[in-house]
Amino acid sequence: TGAFTVAIDGPAAAGKGTIARAVAAHFGFAHLDTGLLYRAVGAKGGDPVAAARGLVPADLARDGLRTLDAGQAASRVAAIPEVRAALVAFQRDFARRPGGAVLDGRDIGTVICPEAEVKLFVTAGPEIRARRRWLEAGGEAGPESYEAVLAQVVERDARDRGRADAPLRAAADAVVLDTSGMDAETAAARAIALVAARL
Ligand code: C5P
Repeated sequence: TGAFTVAIDGPAAAGKGTIARAVAAHFGFAHLDTGLLYRAVGAKGGDPVAAARGLVPADLARDGLRTLDAGQAASRVAAIPEVRAALVAFQRDFARRPGGAVLDGRDIGTVICPEAEVKLFVTAGPEIRARRRWLEAGGEAGPESYEAVLAQVVERDARDRGRADAPLRAAADAVVLDTSGMDAETAAARAIALVAARL
């Protein structure tokens, strides 16, 4: 089979990862969570440009990359153009592999894969996204207050939308999927139907 790319972008905790995994599983496509690349660079410490240039697959399997702090560190290094440039080729190669690929991130439909066969922009209100992240972190039993998680989500979105290089935005030809009132299964089913219609 030839290359077929599904680009999924959107702000933090909108449901991109869940949707991307469901689409990949349904169609047998490979999946790349591109946020992990920036999280791994942020977690390496030292010079972020050198870290991005020297990134190896094993770096993506490190513990602790999914934490809120790692997300903040990722969004700081992600604003550096040389960091982004160092990660482009890997993502484009992944996207064009035979058999199909799903990539989720912030700039997949706009910068990494402007020719993607399907582009989705997944979004939801900030309070809803913060609540999902807070529940994932354990809710009342976890270490973070809901207010702290909301503040982090809002700060990270503002940084991602406001940066000069590859800011978070929907591609002109992206289908917007607002998951605010939707459960994960419904959102995944919508995305699968969209992809099926274009295969
Ligand atoms: O998606 P995730 O929350 O793991 O992404 C962490 C951070 O990495 C984002 O807040 C964003 O700053 C950055 N990122 C990016 N471009 C991507 C994916 C993630 O700038 N394609």
